[in-house]
Amino acid sequence: MMGGFYSGSSAPDMPPRARVPERNDMPDLLPFARPEVDAPTETAAPPATVATAPAGAASDQPLGPTGRPMPYLPDPKPVTEHGPARVISMCNQKGGVGKTTTTINLGAALAEYGRKVLLVDFDPQGSLSVGLGLNPHEMDKTIYNLLMDRTTRIEDVVVPSGVPGMDLLPSNIDLSAAEVQLVHEVAREQTLMRVLAPVVEHYDVILIDCQPSLGLLTVNALTASDGVIVPLECEYFALRGVALLKNTIDKVQERLNPKLEIDGVLGTMFDGRTLHGREVLERLVQAWEDKVFHTVIRRTVKFSDSTVAGEPITSYASESSGADAYRQLAREVALRCLDA
Ligand SMILES: Nc1ncnc2c1ncn2[C@@H]1O[C@H](COP(=O)(O)OP(=O)(O)OP(=O)(O)O)[C@@H](O)[C@H]1O
Ligand SMILES: [Mg+2]
Repeated sequence: MMGGFYSGSSAPDMPPRARVPERNDMPDLLPFARPEVDAPTETAAPPATVATAPAGAASDQPLGPTGRPMPYLPDPKPVTEHGPARVISMCNQKGGVGKTTTTINLGAALAEYGRKVLLVDFDPQGSLSVGLGLNPHEMDKTIYNLLMDRTTRIEDVVVPSGVPGMDLLPSNIDLSAAEVQLVHEVAREQTLMRVLAPVVEHYDVILIDCQPSLGLLTVNALTASDGVIVPLECEYFALRGVALLKNTIDKVQERLNPKLEIDGVLGTMFDGRTLHGREVLERLVQAWEDKVFHTVIRRTVKFSDSTVAGEPITSYASESSGADAYRQLAREVALRCLDA
């Protein structure tokens, strides 16, 4: 019995509605924060991008937005042959934190660096497919067919994404039925892993865009993955529920997929002008230490504009800071877990 796995986004630790957070709320939000670290104060928080180095750090190395010295992130190693892929899930049961935006743009940036990328839309909302310009009503076959019908071949469902080197396994509302139907299947948690197995050799990276829940579909994504990236909005309330997510990742790792690792925690929608955005990043680093990416994605309307245009920001606004941020993330991901 997989008790506790399939708890939806209405987690018991969701915040009360109309309460303004106080500074000393923060330690409670991250139960695995180290207790010896003091809560930050208005005066102690470092500026977002550059500051004096902490004691012991090289003084000439500028601090990044997470308050740590920014390492050099070289271009990913060129590849001459492709595969096998590292499968990475974009996972957070909180909605609207940048999972889909990160899947599209990290994928597109990795493709720009010459990696062969497959994006998997694993959300019945189908935002990833729509965000790449597909019409949900015109899809012939989707990931739903692959999950539920063993005679469907993955080659017949994969479509080009419009970005050279990047393909897509689309989804639409049909996928919501799979969550119910899979419950009766044997090895229900391994279904997506089975579906992806024939193409793992053909790609360098497979990114799975999860839905905002910790239900059976997300457990399938985690079971099929080598790593998980947790996008987190740089807002106080974003930290609520992180313990439940960590708990789910740990359970999948323990019971279903021993190789599963947390590849990184990504701060998204960061506004360097606000103190609390910086404090959230500071808290993240205290709790997750090196797991927090040095790269932070800032808040900019260019992301919504590019979704409307149906393409990644790396092509819609190639020179924008948002595009550069995802290229930097691609370099950091490559250094951390693709080329390591
Ligand atoms: N860095 C950013 N700055 C501004 N807006 C952003 C940023 N990242 C994402 N957005 C916008 O925020 C909204 C939610 O983002 P996104 O769809 O990527 O989140 P999600 O976690 O996938 O949501 P869901 O849980 O519903 O699947 C979208 O309208 C997107 O365009
Ligand atoms: Mg999404």
